[in-house]
Amino acid sequence: MKFFIDTANIDEIKEANSMGMVDGVTTNPSLIAKEGRPFEDIIKDICAEVDGPISAEVISTEAKSMIEEGKKLAAIHKNIVIKIPMIPDGMIATRALSSEGIPVNVTLVFSPLQALVAAKAGAAYVSPFVGRLDDLANEGMLLIEQMVTIYNNYAFDTEVLVASVRNPLHVLEAAMMGADVATIPFGVIKKMMGHPLTDKGLAAFLADYEKSKK
Ligand code: G3P
Repeated sequence: MKFFIDTANIDEIKEANSMGMVDGVTTNPSLIAKEGRPFEDIIKDICAEVDGPISAEVISTEAKSMIEEGKKLAAIHKNIVIKIPMIPDGMIATRALSSEGIPVNVTLVFSPLQALVAAKAGAAYVSPFVGRLDDLANEGMLLIEQMVTIYNNYAFDTEVLVASVRNPLHVLEAAMMGADVATIPFGVIKKMMGHPLTDKGLAAFLADYEKSKK
């Protein structure tokens, strides 16, 4: 399973990358806005730090300008993946960009049929937002199960990129279902590493070591 980190914060990216936990990075306009720095500077810094797919989202919502914006973003670095929202004009842009060899991550996906449409349009990745479905008492992870089944049924190359991950259980269930990628906030990455018995066991080892020195 590939781990992408879901942040535009370069310090978080560097720390997670130092642990080997970063196969790629996803950003979106909200994550970029949090950093208070120019968009292009952030993306360039991320591309310099991580040698993997870096998702940068267009702001346009009209096909022609999405395509133009996507080409400009793709020109920043060879690893840039263009994030396009799951709207009709976004499918026109996805088809156009992917047919020119520019990888697209179709985002804001909330249903299995949206995921099927995005794959048919040529998306390299599709981002189902599981946390936001959970927030509405829908089963976010059911969407992942449906997507993995549909994509396997028809041998789509499109990768399931589980997004809106809110806790380690999302990552566990995604891995059990065979999702290709999970894009994970830094805080969840750290939670995935922790266990109270690890802390307790380490403390006991160190205490016994100290005793043995006396
Ligand atoms: O990659 C999409 C993700 O950033 C959205 O997460 O928690 O705002 O639903 P969230």
